[in-house]
Amino acid sequence: MDNFNYYFDNIHLLGIQGMNKKTIQSILERAQYFNQKKKNRKNKILKDNLVINLFFENSTRTKASFEIAAKSMSADILNISVSSSSIKKGETLIDTAATLNAMHPDFLILRHPNSGAAEMLSKHVECSIINAGDGRHEHPTQALLDAAVIKEEGINLEGLKIAICGDILNSRVARSNIYLLTTMGAQVSVIGPPTLIPKDIERMGVKVFFDLDSGLKSSDIIMILRLQNERMDGSETPSKREYYSFFGINENNLKLAKKNALVMHPGPMNRGVEIASLLADNNEISLVKKQVEMGVSVRIACLEMLKLSRNKLLK
Ligand code: NCD
Repeated sequence: MDNFNYYFDNIHLLGIQGMNKKTIQSILERAQYFNQKKKNRKNKILKDNLVINLFFENSTRTKASFEIAAKSMSADILNISVSSSSIKKGETLIDTAATLNAMHPDFLILRHPNSGAAEMLSKHVECSIINAGDGRHEHPTQALLDAAVIKEEGINLEGLKIAICGDILNSRVARSNIYLLTTMGAQVSVIGPPTLIPKDIERMGVKVFFDLDSGLKSSDIIMILRLQNERMDGSETPSKREYYSFFGINENNLKLAKKNALVMHPGPMNRGVEIASLLADNNEISLVKKQVEMGVSVRIACLEMLKLSRNKLLK
């Protein structure tokens, strides 16, 4: 492993909040480096390391992406999926953590429906924790991969006008992206119905719009989010059809944004609800496939970064 400097001095990756520009920049740069080598990325960075994927919520791409990243770094990986119905708030997580800790993993990648679960776990285990999404709170590797894709497109984050559209209230992807993008000097807007926008979100340095007409205007990129029905009590949205007619993005209303504007979506997509199927499949405009591809490279970079800080801090 060459000694790439990430300017990061924590053994956990719990969120983007508080992460400085230099660290973000170095992760993006390193992810782009690994992405160039994607056909031949096998390395020995995590040889003899045990990585556990501990997922208390469904996931296809994030779990697979961490698994591919860890395997390409020669780690041993164990996947554990726990259905959310079996969680007894907090207690089960600590119990599970104690059991897993006794198996001496080096990295535990956690997805959990409770905000703050990753931080809590980090206080009960000796290994490095990576937050792969905790409730409505943060999903740091998603924001990092989104930014790496934007950079890879040759677009500068500084001065970028980006609109995040949809269910902001329930989205950890929105929160991590807002922290990252504002830190990097982008101008961030959020668009959605008032019931799905947190009341004090302006404090995070974003502009709020309740309609597509004014929200999309002069945006370079639109980041489209899914309605997170599993975190709602049913009163937040009208029918899916009504939601689509007001906030669904298609090739037609995309014209409200800048010419050549691009769209992103973290997946899973609900076609015909927040995004039109034709737009989702239009690879000239949609960066969705590139997001999945970059996901692996960003996770390799994050695992390497934590491995380096463990070597440095736990000497
Ligand atoms: C996101 C998540 O789980 O927060 N998905 C993902 O990680 N690709 C977004 C979502 O579920 O809508």
